[in-house]
Amino acid sequence: MTKLRILVLCFPYLVGATSLGVNWGTMSYNPLPNSIVVQMLQANKITQVKLFDANPDVIKSMAGTDLEVMVAASNDELASLAADPAAAVAWVSENVTQYIGGNGVNIKWVAVGNEPFLSSYNGMYQDVAFPALQNVQQALANAGHASDIKATIPCNADVLSSPPPYLPSQTTWRPDIASIMAQLTQFLSSTGAPFMVNFYPFLSLVLTTNFPLAFAFFNSTANNIVDGSHVYTNVFDASYDGLVTALTNTGFPTLPIIIGEIGWPTDGVLDANIQFAQSFMSQLVTHMLSGTGTPLRPGVLNGYLFSLLDEDAKSILPGPFERHWGIFNYDGSVKYTLDLTGGVNGAGPSLVPAQNVPYLPTKWCVVNPNMGLTELQSNLDYACNHGDCTASYPGGSCSSLTLEGNASYAFNNYFQFTDQLPGSCDFQGLAEVTTTNPSTGTCEFFVGLQPTTAFHCYGPSMRSEKRFGGVSWNLSILAP
Ligand SMILES: *[C@@H]1O[C@H](CO)[C@@H](O)[C@H](O)[C@H]1NC(C)=O
Ligand SMILES: *[C@@H]1O[C@H](CO)[C@@H](O)[C@H](O)[C@H]1NC(C)=O
Ligand SMILES: *[C@@H]1O[C@H](CO)[C@@H](O)[C@H](O)[C@H]1NC(C)=O
Ligand SMILES: *[C@@H]1O[C@H](CO)[C@@H](O)[C@H](O)[C@H]1NC(C)=O
Repeated sequence: MTKLRILVLCFPYLVGATSLGVNWGTMSYNPLPNSIVVQMLQANKITQVKLFDANPDVIKSMAGTDLEVMVAASNDELASLAADPAAAVAWVSENVTQYIGGNGVNIKWVAVGNEPFLSSYNGMYQDVAFPALQNVQQALANAGHASDIKATIPCNADVLSSPPPYLPSQTTWRPDIASIMAQLTQFLSSTGAPFMVNFYPFLSLVLTTNFPLAFAFFNSTANNIVDGSHVYTNVFDASYDGLVTALTNTGFPTLPIIIGEIGWPTDGVLDANIQFAQSFMSQLVTHMLSGTGTPLRPGVLNGYLFSLLDEDAKSILPGPFERHWGIFNYDGSVKYTLDLTGGVNGAGPSLVPAQNVPYLPTKWCVVNPNMGLTELQSNLDYACNHGDCTASYPGGSCSSLTLEGNASYAFNNYFQFTDQLPGSCDFQGLAEVTTTNPSTGTCEFFVGLQPTTAFHCYGPSMRSEKRFGGVSWNLSILAP
């Protein structure tokens, strides 16, 4: 530790390190071993990690590293944390205090819930989120962590509302939670914690009819929104400044903002593709680190990319793209070139893939061509319901397969998800194991990873099941 401190003193920031963080979600049938993920984070000089829960194995895997960690209480824990300060004390003791100090984990943040004010939750967590935050912050203070560890509530951009004329400068809090947001911002300001918000330009594009493609990216020169003396060429800046406006009108114009999630998925629907994801992410990283900021907040923008890895066990209620938000594939291989330093200091390094990945044996499960195609669809449906077929949805990387190809894709997913168990490549005799890679063109048939215990202890839970694209804007391009 002493050695590290000296190093940190000599170099205020690690050379080439990015100040952007990443979200590390673990809802995957084939999770990479935690130790390999941590090596990957370090190889990529990522210094900040946001978690969605407080999984002990994940947290412990970062012990002795410099990674700044955000641990989280899930929405389901909010009611009990709100109801009883003692519950928050127990939470902080078990999920924060036990890991820190000595050669421990550098926990810097606690997320209390995840987008609890999302309007599609119909108020389910509305009354408990803020009291839970108060109790957690008090518990952090009781444990002596108040100056080192801050608690906040990651919010979806739908805490904002943009009434006519739909301009950033006219943005308010959503009326049904305006008084909660006033209390929240007052509280965050008093504890020195940031406002955390998630933005999804991808969802704006996919969910809004006639949304101009260029407005989702950062390379447009069109003056899409003219707001007094400010001009907005991208939806990110407009949304960010909508938040700045709401904070300002609540009395906290300088409250720090951290973006909790922002990213672009790569499969499952047409606009979720590698080319768009690479453009968006590289433009985003450059924009955030360049210091240009937004019209209302010049300067470097802080935040966490969504996400580190694909998570194939997530619900696809938000859309088939939901399992494909990783900047890396499920196995830590690189999807596309990205310089996490934003090229701000010249041409920076590219992503470094995970090393020593423990793959299962190199074999796949495909349709046995001699068996005829009877009962194929029902077996395909069964495999898809227990696996992940989102790449074969319209617009996905495997969407041009034949019915037989679809069945092979589904059977292979099931086979890999079940850790290639004997008997899991049968499907009433329709399937067979092969050592010939069946991948074609853009469609990759994957090989699973050796099982780890992590997933079996912490199976898929409900995270944000419902997402929201963003606020409505007055786009000059759109016909009224
Ligand atoms: C610590 O966090 C985990 C995972 O989020 C949760 O299940 C557990 O109940 C928490 N501990 C306490 C004492 O609340
Ligand atoms: C869009 O904004 C302009 C001002 O820039 C305003 O005149 C117009 O009424 C707004 N449109 C709508 C639909 O509110
Ligand atoms: C901006 O990026 C998008 C996404 O890659 C691309 O389709 C578009 O052509 C680019 N526009 C300009 C002006 O470079
Ligand atoms: C393959 O599966 C996808 C997703 O279920 C479906 O949209 C597509 O129509 C299927 N293709 C054929 C040829 O059955």
